Amino acid sequence: MKYCYRAFLLLVLVFLLSSSPASSGNNRADQCLSCHDKAYNKAMMSSYIHKPFQEKKCFTCHVDGEDLPSDSSQQERSKRQKRSTITWLQKHYEPARTHFFLLPSNKIYQKLFIQIKGQDNKSRVTSIPLPPISELSSLNNDETHPEISNIQFHGIKRGVLYSAIISWETDRPANSQVLYGIGKFNQKSNLDVQLKKRHTISISPIRPGKTYSYTVTSTDIHGNKSISQPQTFSADTPAIPLPETDISMQEGTRADKLSYKLLAVDEFYFVTITASSPTYMSIGKDDTLRPRITIQSPGKENTPPTTHIALRNSRETNITVCLTCHAGYQTESSHPIDVGPRRGMTFPDDYPLFDDGKMHCMTCHDAHTSKNEARIRRPTKQELCVGCHKSYG
Ligand code: HEC
Ligand code: HEC
Ligand code: HEC
Ligand code: HEC
Ligand code: HEC
Repeated sequence: MKYCYRAFLLLVLVFLLSSSPASSGNNRADQCLSCHDKAYNKAMMSSYIHKPFQEKKCFTCHVDGEDLPSDSSQQERSKRQKRSTITWLQKHYEPARTHFFLLPSNKIYQKLFIQIKGQDNKSRVTSIPLPPISELSSLNNDETHPEISNIQFHGIKRGVLYSAIISWETDRPANSQVLYGIGKFNQKSNLDVQLKKRHTISISPIRPGKTYSYTVTSTDIHGNKSISQPQTFSADTPAIPLPETDISMQEGTRADKLSYKLLAVDEFYFVTITASSPTYMSIGKDDTLRPRITIQSPGKENTPPTTHIALRNSRETNITVCLTCHAGYQTESSHPIDVGPRRGMTFPDDYPLFDDGKMHCMTCHDAHTSKNEARIRRPTKQELCVGCHKSYG
């Protein structure tokens, strides 16, 4: 009898929990705080606390499927459904038959998405299953350095500025950079991080009347680096014509005809994908395939773990929900979001970003609370901006 009564109470409790109106965060938030109470209590000691956090609107910002707090929620939801859930992590802007990628295994769930694009600019998307990293064979570091060969000078080109094109090959996939200068190596090209065996780098500006010294460098996925012997070029150096890449995949290349190989390099997937003819390629993931967090309560190791309530994906938490309460944010004077660094700009390591390296609201703002006014990540606005815009200092 006693047992029955308890079950009844439990039922009432469950009923109460599930029927509380969406607008009052409080009762339901106690569920969250039963585990996240330490973080909450500590946060409440901060100088600047975001109002909805103080009001415990945890569900609004975090829980998947919750209504968004505005009239636009219906529109938002249908927009959300239409929008593809794939995040493109790496894009290769140079066409090739074989593409290499190194991808963190803890951020990609179940499937890897591949987009190929030919000259016709039509893109095709396919996916391959990703086994857990522990099931793959490892590619170990043999501590040897990439072998550089066939360094070629392809002439000086006149554009807005003069530029020179250098190419070389390596015996394994590696990144590319050229160090150069007049009599010394005091300049460097951009680092091309796309892993390749055939490397082409354009350096500019070049003063066409001068003789330049240069070396080419490549670093492999294990960090083994090679630097070539010094070379020289000038306007008089015979230039080898740059081979044209044929991206004639209009008919031939089909996404479902790709072949691939997966290896483990520490906690990274090393992926090799080969198409039947040269194509552009991008690699992506889908956060909606992320498995729920499993929770093993301390002291109850012999009971099965429970699963965490389903959370919104990072785009929703870090932009979409913000804009429903701060609809006015998207004005002309607001800072661009969902953008990556401009050429030559680097983002500080402690500014959070989307996995594809683009910035969102929380790149500049602390999530719940802060010791800084407006909950920005640096004591002053200027220090915040200078993190990325070095020239604002
Ligand atoms: C039974 C305990 C428990 C409950 C209840 C709980 N959480 Fe969690 N939560 C965890 C654990 C464990 C983690 C993973 C470790 C961590 O980040 O603290 C986690 C992680 C999170 C994260 C970070 C997720 C990420 O991507 O890393 C968020 C956000 C979160 N919880 C929000 C909530 C919200 C909102 C609620 C209430 C609806 C809630 N949690 C209820 C235990 C719980
Ligand atoms: C106004 C929106 C908002 C509210 C309200 C909110 N959060 Fe968050 N929370 C965020 C954002 C944004 C992040 C950081 C970005 C991310 O997780 O992707 C975050 C991060 C987290 C994390 C993971 C990182 C960490 O700090 O440990 C947890 C856990 C969490 N929140 C729990 C909660 C709980 C519990 C509540 C309710 C008391 C709550 N949040 C209320 C927006 C919110
Ligand atoms: C449920 C509505 C709601 C959501 C969702 C929300 N905010 Fe707010 N936000 C507020 C309110 C209310 C204030 C306080 C305004 C005031 O005091 O004038 C505020 C204030 C702020 C401030 C000013 C500093 C402060 O703490 O008072 C910033 C910055 C801010 N929000 C950023 C964000 C970001 C970024 C997100 C997305 C993670 C977000 N907000 C989501 C309601 C919301
Ligand atoms: C590049 C950094 C940066 C980004 C990105 C950013 N903010 Fe801010 N935000 C600031 C700074 C700095 C302030 C302090 C006010 C000021 O001086 O402009 C601020 C102030 C605010 C305020 C306080 C009210 C106001 O307008 O002064 C709100 C609300 C706010 N931000 C919301 C957001 C939301 C929502 C997003 C994402 C859509 C976002 N912010 C993205 C830097 C940023
Ligand atoms: C996380 C790095 C980051 C921070 C912090 C940052 N910016 Fe930016 N900012 C960018 C990037 C990236 C762009 C270029 C966006 C583009 O070209 O699409 C940009 C563009 C701009 C622009 C040009 C506007 C436009 O529409 O192109 C201005 C003005 C600007 N930022 C001002 C600021 C100010 C003021 C701050 C400090 C409150 C700040 N930024 C903080 C990364 C940042």
